[in-house]
Amino acid sequence: MKILMVCLGNICRSPLAEGILKSKVDSNKIIVESAGTSGHHSGEKPDRRSIDIADKNDIDISAQRSRKFVASDFNSYDLIYAMDESNYNNIVALSKNEEDIKKVKMILNESHPNSNFNVPDPYYGGDDGFKNVFDMLDEACNVIASKINDDDYAR
Ligand code: 4NP
Repeated sequence: MKILMVCLGNICRSPLAEGILKSKVDSNKIIVESAGTSGHHSGEKPDRRSIDIADKNDIDISAQRSRKFVASDFNSYDLIYAMDESNYNNIVALSKNEEDIKKVKMILNESHPNSNFNVPDPYYGGDDGFKNVFDMLDEACNVIASKINDDDYAR
């Protein structure tokens, strides 16, 4: 099973989502990666503030590099998690069919079903924003990991 975490720049939120979920699942069974809809930061490391908050929680995301989300990602992944509604719309705009669209989910709907809550973009804020994002993603990834471990997502 392959899961893709997607935000705008793939330097703040989705690298954290990737690192957090990876820390909770068996990497032999579940591949977790991330991408950004914009491509503006392609090839860059995660934002220093994301690296730092991950580090504080014993997760190393420093080897990740940003890449742009592409339409062929629908063929490569079973589940695609959007961090916010804008990411969701940008991802779905590249879909080819209903099957593609069904793969796309708002990540906070895992911890807050049907809420369509956004993971706030922390880029222009301070360190508090990154801690807040970490905590939200940690909560959502706990739910995803328990579904995976209960085989709810078995494919
Ligand atoms: P991300 O945050 O989508 O969580 O990676 C952002 C990173 C960069 C920019 C915006 C959001 N930017 O405008 O460069």
